[in-house]
Amino acid sequence: MNQIITPKQNIHATITVPGDKSISHRSIMFGALAKGITEIEGFLMGQDCLSTISCFQKLGITIEQNNNKIFVHGKGLYGLTKPNEILDVGNSGTTLRLISGILSAQPFSCHLTGDSSIQKRPMNRIAIPLRKMGAILKGNDDENLFAPFTIEGKKLKGITYTLPVASAQVKSAILLAGLFAEGETVVIETEATRDHTEIMLRYMGADIQKIGNEIHCKTATELYAQKISVPADISSAAYFIVMACICKNSEILLKNVGINETRTGIIDALQSMGGNITIENEKIVNGEKIGDIRAKYSAFHGTTIGGADIPRLIDEIPVIAVAGCFAEGTTIIKDAQELKVKESNRIKTIITELKKFGADITETEDGMIIQGGNILKGCVTQSYQDHRIAMSMAVAGTAALGETTITGAECANISFPNFYDIISSI
Ligand code: S3P
Repeated sequence: MNQIITPKQNIHATITVPGDKSISHRSIMFGALAKGITEIEGFLMGQDCLSTISCFQKLGITIEQNNNKIFVHGKGLYGLTKPNEILDVGNSGTTLRLISGILSAQPFSCHLTGDSSIQKRPMNRIAIPLRKMGAILKGNDDENLFAPFTIEGKKLKGITYTLPVASAQVKSAILLAGLFAEGETVVIETEATRDHTEIMLRYMGADIQKIGNEIHCKTATELYAQKISVPADISSAAYFIVMACICKNSEILLKNVGINETRTGIIDALQSMGGNITIENEKIVNGEKIGDIRAKYSAFHGTTIGGADIPRLIDEIPVIAVAGCFAEGTTIIKDAQELKVKESNRIKTIITELKKFGADITETEDGMIIQGGNILKGCVTQSYQDHRIAMSMAVAGTAALGETTITGAECANISFPNFYDIISSI
């Protein structure tokens, strides 16, 4: 699908973006393992989360939708059944990596696959620790695992494992396997990553403690179903935060956004660029901090983003790069080599596409350098079927001169089904 984006200014809007993708995935997965019915409000009906639903349905879990709520009929820790078909995660890395932790401990084997992008994403990062715990993961090249692959579940044993890459998906896969393992499982993080798994599993009754940078997980006897209210996704709010900051005379209020500190790197980064962004009405829901984010047209200046901030804004780097194009001076993004193994090689795709608008942006080994101040001009840009590239280019288009056409724009559905409707309505 081609999507046309026209320039905007004087935006005054209050927006509620869809539910958090990370929390929505986890609510289905952990709900399936819990005893009782998990009732989920605000669930993200994006393609990735629908892939998670479909995989758990194939594993014997009844999942229904009623009155905008999702009901997961959990069957307890040992209630999953062997699927008759291959489990297809579509484009969703979170589904594949987290489900692998669970399947490693089941008394059956299953086959997993996904789309052409998922088949290029590294799975050694989960295979190495899960094999240490006793699971068997087999693909075309066992030394270098990629989907499609097979998991033979085994009786697992707990391990102590230092994450070689800052990845919440890897951490979560190990902790999920740890629920079933004999003895304690300890994950050591050198850089903090999103902690939704720890928060939700604890909320459902698991014994998971954080001691310094170590996460200790005890063998679980039972998880208990809960009511879960999914906050709006800060990664989706990010597009409108940047849009408000770069479109003249604009102000956008984003309601009920998840502002867990492991996710708010985008706010800190934009504020360090001079962004006029404030948070109001903070509260805690299901152990997760939420609040309203107000963003106003801002005079951005360049900044440097790297180190421990990267995991706190990893999915927002494409739209931060757009912000950098509208900043005075130089914006440096470093230590972001993980971008190369996302839904597309985002270092390359961001740079290639922003250059089409006329941006001055240079590739580095672990990120990019953006010289702000070039006037961006509308162009024909492509998505690479990467949802975050499509939506970031749409944001660039709202502040560029003239019309922008995004080809392959439909991939926004992965995480934000009504994205273009909201853009047209403001
Ligand atoms: C996610 C973790 C991040 C993020 C992804 C969702 C999660 O990936 O990029 O969109 O829900 O745990 P990594 O943990 O691999 O960096």
